[in-house]
Amino acid sequence: MCGIIGYNGKQNAIPIVINGLKNLEYRGYDSAGIAYFLGNDFKIIKEKGRISSLEEILEDDEPTLCIGHTRWATHGKPSRINSHPHQVGDITIVHNGIIENYASLKEELMKEGYKFQSETDTEVAAAVIDSLYKKTKDKLLTLEKLNEVLKGSYALLILFKDEKDTIYALREGSPLIVASNETGNFVASDIPAILEYTKNYYLLEHGEIAIIKKDKVTFIKDKKEITKELLTFKFDISSAKKEGYPHYMLKEIHEQPEVIKNFIEHYLTNFNLIPDISKYEKIHIVACGSAYHAGLIGSFLIEEYGNMEVSTYVASEYRYKKNFLNEKTLVILISQSGETADTIASLRLAKEQKATTIGIVNVVGSTIAREVDEVIYINAGCEIAVATTKAYTLQVLTFSLIAYKLGLKKGIITKEKQKEIEEGYKLLPSEISKVLKVDYKKYAARIATKKNVFFIGRLIDYCICEEGSLKLKEISYIHSETYPAGELKHGTISLIEKNTPVIAVITDSKIAEKTISNIKEVKARGAYTLVVKRKDIPLHEDTFDDLIEVEGLSDLVLSIVTIIPLQMLAYEVANILGYDIDKPRNLAKSVTVE
Ligand code: G6P
Repeated sequence: MCGIIGYNGKQNAIPIVINGLKNLEYRGYDSAGIAYFLGNDFKIIKEKGRISSLEEILEDDEPTLCIGHTRWATHGKPSRINSHPHQVGDITIVHNGIIENYASLKEELMKEGYKFQSETDTEVAAAVIDSLYKKTKDKLLTLEKLNEVLKGSYALLILFKDEKDTIYALREGSPLIVASNETGNFVASDIPAILEYTKNYYLLEHGEIAIIKKDKVTFIKDKKEITKELLTFKFDISSAKKEGYPHYMLKEIHEQPEVIKNFIEHYLTNFNLIPDISKYEKIHIVACGSAYHAGLIGSFLIEEYGNMEVSTYVASEYRYKKNFLNEKTLVILISQSGETADTIASLRLAKEQKATTIGIVNVVGSTIAREVDEVIYINAGCEIAVATTKAYTLQVLTFSLIAYKLGLKKGIITKEKQKEIEEGYKLLPSEISKVLKVDYKKYAARIATKKNVFFIGRLIDYCICEEGSLKLKEISYIHSETYPAGELKHGTISLIEKNTPVIAVITDSKIAEKTISNIKEVKARGAYTLVVKRKDIPLHEDTFDDLIEVEGLSDLVLSIVTIIPLQMLAYEVANILGYDIDKPRNLAKSVTVE
């Protein structure tokens, strides 16, 4: 969603801020803007569309302080007027998050005489700050009072007209980091914005205010100056660069053998870091998007190998339903970003109701990572493409290890099986490398011309299909639906006509025959069938038009190998169609609003 960057230092701040915004493009946005001081006033330049459109209207000024923002529209359509920064009176701000009570605040402020130009909640927040500051004449007091007035989540950079050498920053919900190098100081919503300049950063906490001068940053909490721990981003900057790949998504797909190898080595040698979930009476998995799909697979693996019932829920539903939680419930929250609003709300609800919480998270120090009782970091490095790939497979792998540990603890996994499973983990990176060598372009060409695609599979194969289908629709804009293979005949089969693509996944030999019958049903009605199956499952050549085979020594890792062809297929289809693969329309990498 929205991205924030600010710079205050010795250098021309505009190129630094524009560069930072470009490094945040992956979060998803539909307009961009910057603000700095020129003479006695603010200069605000903003534009609808890509950062390149903003660059076209930049002026030759060379301020050494500048703030910038990429906006993903929530309140009000994407337009120049709605984009940030917003100025009201003597205040200019950029904002991430949502001010939930903006409508009532707007009414009150209008009574005070404020007039609004945009439809945004951000302009209201700027007016709140202007009004408070005019009353208190004290900046810190004004900013401290904000969390009494604003409801919702926000990260704000604030410029005061009467203090032209300072950026004020604070957050409530949405993250902000502060960093420094020899040229000056930075503040940003996310690490990639500053990674070219430094790997060290401070994480601003709720209730803290950062006062960012050219040569000094001061952190304030409860009116007192505090010292904060300097954190280091442990991945190489290459994890945030394309490194010769045409798209981040392709690069991240190809990084999977390496990150998976590192993950397995790390967690198999530190097996104590994988939680023992045997003591809980009830297990819920809660997440959004692809993380939810990883959770679906997680429940299958834990049920199968750990013989324990698990339910997986979409976080935006979970937070509003009756969940019957207590001290004996474990709630596992999965989130690449650690900032997804619905997942955070579910986490807080679970804690309120006394459940134990575990987070499976990528972004170190993110809200979910900090608020859960126990965090498992997947260590994927930066994931830039909006459509997740490597984070998803590492999430599934985490569940695989949790299930494995539970199976061992309960004596369900025998010594013999244990050897096979560990061998399977070791071979997983090379199995993925093998499937990455397949030429997916020819299959993609058969799908790229179609308007509808169906994915079918049963049990865990259905869950794999859900993720494959999501990948395809996210980046190729082709309508795609997933069905449990046996369910198709209860309605949806009426949509199958000559050459309708049906992608079937068969990795579970126990139900392979059943899925094969369903493939035959659609084939008989003219469908083009592309089957992704485990190599040793027999399949007559009349059943498929195209076949992709995968191998994995153990069922605990097979679902990970199997998603790779579907990731590649989605990528190649979108590539043929010429879409903006890393930044698909309307989507955001980190969904920080409900
Ligand atoms: C967005 C992203 C998806 C992601 C989902 C959950 O929709 O585009 O790729 O799966 O959010 O995000 P999280 O950061 O919580 O894993």
